[in-house]
Amino acid sequence: KPIFILNGPNLNLLGLRQPEIYGRATLEDVAEDCATLAEELGLTIRFHQSNHEGQLVDWIQSARSEGAGIIINPAAYSHTSVAIIDALNAFEGPVIEVHISNIHKREAFRHHSYVSARADGVIAGCGTEGYLLALRRMKTMVGA
Ligand code: DQA
Repeated sequence: KPIFILNGPNLNLLGLRQPEIYGRATLEDVAEDCATLAEELGLTIRFHQSNHEGQLVDWIQSARSEGAGIIINPAAYSHTSVAIIDALNAFEGPVIEVHISNIHKREAFRHHSYVSARADGVIAGCGTEGYLLALRRMKTMVGA
């Protein structure tokens, strides 16, 4: 079963928006790097991004039957979404939360993430490399 890598709102603008915070790599670059590493690790991935909360909920629900694990950067929804945490609570496999920036070093409203109460691991402030670290950890967790 594949690992779902899910990305929340505005991450489609990665590389273009606030590069001093989020870096110059685009989401397409991140998707490619994840695909390369996944192949090396013998994992299959489904890489998705949406600006819509309900779409993210739908993908998390799909992972219940179709996914071995979820790596998620919920972006701004980390700090607001009860719907995403409810969907993740209905998923039984491993969940790793990724933030490109160190949310704890930033504005106070970013310090709390609803998703962290469900995540098995949290990676923040490691740039887009965080996705690759999360994939390596996922490999350990799914034992594939
Ligand atoms: C983010 C941090 C969030 O606070 C922000 O809303 C994002 C991206 C990150 O990857 O650092 O959109 O999740």
